[in-house]
Amino acid sequence: MKAEHAPTIRRTEFMPLPWTVLRVDLHFSLHPEATVVTSRLACVRNRAVDAGALVLDGDELETLALTIDGCDPQPGTVRRSASRIELDIDGDEAELEIVTRINPRANSTLSGLYQSRGGYFTQCEAEGFRRITWFPDRPDVMARFTVTVEGERASCPVLLSNGNLVEEGELPDGRHYARWEDPFPKPCYLFALVAADLVVLERRELTASGREVLLQVWVEAGNLDRAGHAMDALVHAMRWDEETFGLELDLDRYMIVAVSDFNMGAMENKGLNIFNTKYVLAKPDTATDADYEHIESVVAHEYFHNWTGNRVTCRDWFQLTLKEGLTVFRDQQFSADMLAAAAGAEAAASARAVKRIDDVRVLRAAQFPEDAGPMAHPIRPDSYQEINNFYTATVYEKGAEVIRMLHTLLGPEGFRNGMDLYFSYHDGSAVTCDDFVEAMSEANGRDLDQFMLWYSQAGTPRVKAEGVWDGAAGSYLLTVSQYTPPTPGQAEKQALVIPLAIGLIGPDGEDRPLQLEGEAHPGGTTRVLELSSESRQWRFVGLDAEPVPSLLRGFSAPVILEVEEDDARLAFRMAHDADACNRWDAAQRYAERVLLALAAAAADGRAMAVPQGFVDAFARLLRDQRLDAAFRAQALSLPAEAYLLERMQPADPAALRAAQIHLGMTLGSMLADDLRALVEGLVEPAEYRYHPADAGRRALINLALRYLCAARDARGVALAAQRFAEAGNMTDRFGALAALVHGAVAEAEGALAAFYRRYRDDALVLDKWFALQAGMWRRDPAAPPTLARVRALLADAAFSLANPNKVYALLGSFFRANPAEFHLPDGSGYALWAEQVIALDAANPQVAARMARALENWRRFTPALQAAMRPQLERVRDAEGLSADVGEIIDKALA
Ligand code: PHE
Ligand code: ZN
Repeated sequence: MKAEHAPTIRRTEFMPLPWTVLRVDLHFSLHPEATVVTSRLACVRNRAVDAGALVLDGDELETLALTIDGCDPQPGTVRRSASRIELDIDGDEAELEIVTRINPRANSTLSGLYQSRGGYFTQCEAEGFRRITWFPDRPDVMARFTVTVEGERASCPVLLSNGNLVEEGELPDGRHYARWEDPFPKPCYLFALVAADLVVLERRELTASGREVLLQVWVEAGNLDRAGHAMDALVHAMRWDEETFGLELDLDRYMIVAVSDFNMGAMENKGLNIFNTKYVLAKPDTATDADYEHIESVVAHEYFHNWTGNRVTCRDWFQLTLKEGLTVFRDQQFSADMLAAAAGAEAAASARAVKRIDDVRVLRAAQFPEDAGPMAHPIRPDSYQEINNFYTATVYEKGAEVIRMLHTLLGPEGFRNGMDLYFSYHDGSAVTCDDFVEAMSEANGRDLDQFMLWYSQAGTPRVKAEGVWDGAAGSYLLTVSQYTPPTPGQAEKQALVIPLAIGLIGPDGEDRPLQLEGEAHPGGTTRVLELSSESRQWRFVGLDAEPVPSLLRGFSAPVILEVEEDDARLAFRMAHDADACNRWDAAQRYAERVLLALAAAAADGRAMAVPQGFVDAFARLLRDQRLDAAFRAQALSLPAEAYLLERMQPADPAALRAAQIHLGMTLGSMLADDLRALVEGLVEPAEYRYHPADAGRRALINLALRYLCAARDARGVALAAQRFAEAGNMTDRFGALAALVHGAVAEAEGALAAFYRRYRDDALVLDKWFALQAGMWRRDPAAPPTLARVRALLADAAFSLANPNKVYALLGSFFRANPAEFHLPDGSGYALWAEQVIALDAANPQVAARMARALENWRRFTPALQAAMRPQLERVRDAEGLSADVGEIIDKALA
């Protein structure tokens, strides 16, 4: 039977609570199946609200006791449901004592208090605290917490919570306790508790003002040699926030704990960050350069939340982008600065561009499709059924783009002034996105009312640009217009404020100084134009020849740019654009054009032919030794398949994959000599170190191996096999393995088996092994479909549906990273999808909903595929006891 619809929560229905909590005193008596939580709440009336009950939220709680000021509630003053208690209380203050019993071992949702490998861990964002005890579970209730954790010494020698350790001691029966006090008021979503058998890497540092702080990274025994990189990242993040924003660590102790079972990447609990092991643990033998990079940015992200999220938090969950968009922007800037510093002055700009390109890739592959589908929502959504479904690429990544646009429009100093004002007004409170933008506006004396449309309008704006050259006048007239397509619930869109960074390139490939009509002097070679109406013109003067425009430099706004450019012009910009991001983008556009044409040919059964012009342009980039390796690796990587499918009408994964394989083969065989020379010629340091310059070389080598194996170039395949066998680090080993596997060459299976033998006991490395096979680019036509392999891997001893990392690695990669093998015409991929979503949903709805989203854009596919998808979507919709999480996704997809 179809599940009841979950109610829709609306942003406009926000009401302040009649009661709030000032202090919370928690006591945990930990037992695997019967943990007893005693909570004492000091509650006061909210003076701003006339009257009303004290409301508490709860979820799957067994309530053992509830008293108000030491007494049982008066008859008739309590209203209870499974998820809510309302208390009518006389007077303005009350002390509540609540005792609940919970079962961490049975908690497979990984929300609330749960067990992982014998330890206890919590996850409370967004609404997990109500799974621990009754509480007004909203971010605008900020209280001071003290926490006593009591547990078995043998299994849980380490007892942690937020803030400072104030007391610890022994108890009878092999138990012990620790008492923690957090000096800062916080919403309950930032509460955390860890009780486990862990070891610690410690460091003492001085803050900018000279306070000593203790930094700790807690991991399982045996993993201490993998904690150093996270610690370094933490110290770098501390320094960066001091230098860039004048923000200092406000605690005496800052802890990071790694846990194997975790739904998301990491969590910024005050003073006690809990991390997915994936974003903590790294050593050269087990982590790739990409892993090192991700760890650095996630550690920084959580650290930056201490100010943007914790000190100033969200009034309600609709404001999620207030903390997430801003914090992603901060971590992006941090990573760019770290890369630039490592690269040195000469290569700094290119290093920054490489980071920007990474971010743009993510946005295009993950956020653009979301913004064009049934889940499209503004960065500040207007409604939701399940808040966990709104930790999205739109809230995070597009949210960060919106902050970046403010940074671009106001300049670094103006932005910093706005941040300072924001903290001066709102430190210690729970606020809205309006509060943030108002601080920016006031600090800069700039009206940002129209800018606020970025917070309320969904959909990716299209920006069209056209130039007309007037040779006699030496002027270039640029006409730019914008249009945002309708999204669910938003038929009409208004014109946004769009910062458009542009340059004009002369026929010699050099940027021309930019002088607008009416200006006395040219001003720079890249300038930011502001498009704030539907259409606008700019006339550039003083030009000696017809320029080639380079628009949206640095990807200055999260839009789709539509310009008419022929192949020659794309090749020209690939060779000359002074903006590295746009140079990359020119290559992407050219590749997209070629791939979509090849796919159309494949779909019609015509012969596929790669234009020579593209091969030449590609070869020029490949051979250009002046470009650094990391940039070349970016420029020579084809656009993400998810992005290309989005650009294809209708999406035909089989035809697109045929096109990609054909293009890879063609480039690999036509440029085999160059590619081999590159692999053999790039000298690698003997000892692995994580350094951007080395990482760039490794990335370029691994990419070259991909093309060589795609072309089945015998010497290239031998090189890959040899590098796999002799690799001294995971980046080289996995890069070579991936080249063999994606090329489906004979050596692939043996290499996969060897890799498994070597890492059979290493969960994080096995995730790579699962993901690689699920995402196999190509397979021997005689081999069984990848679907059969995925089914077999589901039964592998190392696989578990209970571990989110495993699910994301195997099923996530298959559903999302392998469209050609997933979208089989007989619908067998969709049957697997439905079966696994239903199975997951019974245990962990958040993870199930993430997997469910793989089919949300089903209406974009060919009619035959849609016809195969619909019955499986309906099967999930009609499943017994479906969660609100999955229900919302499926209902929106089918609507
Ligand atoms: N707030 C976390 C972050 O972005 C993400 C998260 C959300 C983790 C919900 C767990 C649960 O840093
Ligand atoms: Zn975050």
